[in-house]
Amino acid sequence: MMLAIDGLFDAGTLVALREAAEALDFADGAATAGALARRVKANDQAVASPERDALLAKVSAVVTAHTVFLSAARPLRISPLILSRYREGQTYGLHVDDALMQGLRADLSFTLFLSEPESYDGGALVIEDSFETRAVKLGAGEMILYPSTTLHRVEPVTRGARLAVVGWVQSRVRDSGQREILFDLDRSIADLQAGGSAALLDRLAKTRSNLLRMWAEV
Ligand code: NI
Repeated sequence: MMLAIDGLFDAGTLVALREAAEALDFADGAATAGALARRVKANDQAVASPERDALLAKVSAVVTAHTVFLSAARPLRISPLILSRYREGQTYGLHVDDALMQGLRADLSFTLFLSEPESYDGGALVIEDSFETRAVKLGAGEMILYPSTTLHRVEPVTRGARLAVVGWVQSRVRDSGQREILFDLDRSIADLQAGGSAALLDRLAKTRSNLLRMWAEV
């Protein structure tokens, strides 16, 4: 399951985060990539400083308190966050994220876009799965949460600069199908608590059908 999450920051906070990010010092991002990914990675990452750490701590606090993120990812561990920057000509070619990193198993990856999409060309996150390829370029302050199992890349930036915060989650529920069922149930239960909705029946029916697919034999 891929999920876009918005509403993480109010407009003023978002502008402050972006301005703080733009003022940081950056270095070659290849150092934090695995051996294979390093060959196709050409971006910058903010180097450690009290300002960077404060910015990332603020983002982390908001993300890890967000109800939809918690429901979709069921995080057990979250990696240290990275503030990445792609300037004109920079890109990250097709790769898969490392399975094991910094003491966690990466089940889910996320990218929180900080730059307004109109402020740069290119820079879409392109995620491949067995059926189709999706290009994701979200608004500033929006986050895409996607399976770390996928091959993905960042298209070359051809104008401006793309700032984003990226991180990885080890989930309490390893299987993505099981996570999606639990996510659906969370939402259905929340709808019921809010008085019901037209979407409720469809979602519960989907959940029942998918539980049967997962657990029943004929
Ligand atoms: Ni990646």
